[in-house]
Amino acid sequence: MSLAGKKLLLIIGGGIAAYKSLDLIRRLRERGASVRAVMTGAAQEFVTPLSVGALTGEKPFTELFDAASEFDVGHIRLAREADVIVVAPATADLMAKMANGLANDLATAILLATHRPVLVAPAMNPAMWTHPATQRNFAQLIADGISAIGPNQGEMAESNETGTGRMAEPVEIVAAVENLIAIAPDKSSLKGKRVLVTSGPTREPIDPVRFISNQSSGKQGHAVARAAAAAGAEVVLISGPVELPDPSGIKTIHVNTAAEMLKAAEAALPVDVAICAAAVADWKIDDAAPEKMKKANGGPLTLCLSENPDILSTIAHHKRRPKLVVGFAAETEKILDNAKAKLAKKGCDWIVANDVSPETGVFGGERNTVHLVTREGVEDWPTQSKEAVAGALVRRIADTLKRAGK
Ligand SMILES: Cc1cc2nc3c(=O)[nH]c(=O)nc-3n(C[C@H](O)[C@H](O)[C@H](O)COP(=O)(O)O)c2cc1C
Repeated sequence: MSLAGKKLLLIIGGGIAAYKSLDLIRRLRERGASVRAVMTGAAQEFVTPLSVGALTGEKPFTELFDAASEFDVGHIRLAREADVIVVAPATADLMAKMANGLANDLATAILLATHRPVLVAPAMNPAMWTHPATQRNFAQLIADGISAIGPNQGEMAESNETGTGRMAEPVEIVAAVENLIAIAPDKSSLKGKRVLVTSGPTREPIDPVRFISNQSSGKQGHAVARAAAAAGAEVVLISGPVELPDPSGIKTIHVNTAAEMLKAAEAALPVDVAICAAAVADWKIDDAAPEKMKKANGGPLTLCLSENPDILSTIAHHKRRPKLVVGFAAETEKILDNAKAKLAKKGCDWIVANDVSPETGVFGGERNTVHLVTREGVEDWPTQSKEAVAGALVRRIADTLKRAGK
């Protein structure tokens, strides 16, 4: 893929792998991208602004409090004008600041001010990489929707140590940038649209301390919410209990039961698009016990279940029906037959069907293989990250609304 016409902002952190970022600039420019560079103070200890500027063709930006560049380009413009921001090498320090929203230098102020896709290429000593603090920060960045490449395993540049911590090679970073540009929704394609997303499982109480639920992690639904927001939509995310932080900048409503999720979803109407990615429990327990239940002398326990309200169908038949209603169907067998039946039965416009049988690792995993079932037919999408599935779905939604003049 060519990067012709794409504007990349490369933030170079202060790690020994900074020397590789010189090669990265060259390779990005070879593919037609224009590259602007920002160097942290520490980065300038490893490579000179002169080398970086010679390769980008423009003086690198280094200072937050630089009157000349603030009047000229400024950190907010740098944050907004890039198609993709790449942090390479992403030091432990930079990732810690990003994960916590610090902004006390030019690089971190840009990273806090941007809504553009960000790719980090971590690079550090294996002890720094495996430290719980770094792992916590890295997990936070992924939860915030930031993409990552590497680190790789191998020998460290500055010591005889071997382990995980080597920065990904420039060719790998270029491929990751190309992928990110391919999946990134156009930043204003859903501008002015209101989008409702449901995500995660629901919990149906048995008694005050027990419940029935399912394996949904909420990763796919949260990724869809982030992708819709990145495309300029005003997003309302209704989330069941998940171990994910609320996506930044998105109104998130927390619920437990299917009944609570339905109430919150109806209250969010009208919306232009509803995407029901939550794994809503089909059944609830009749008469959940008001007190913790006790064992009954080894005898069997019978729970009486009744059907929960159907959120997707209720929204699809609502008097304030959204222009486009999309459901997700997690199946473990006859995926397409079940998805087609669901499309007809629920009255929604599209079903995103996926195989969640345990061997696929979809529930809780990072990748997903989906089929888009519409009234026109079935599209088989390749196995890709949940972020990529979300990006492709949002692009498809924006195209459909545009073509229908909605
Ligand atoms: C010789 C040397 C090599 C270093 N290499 C790394 C590295 O590979 N990764 C890293 O996270 N920090 C590394 N550090 C530490 C960072 O330079 C330090 O945390 C610095 O504050 C990072 O600043 P920055 O995140 O603003 O670029 C190194 C320090 C020295 C002196």
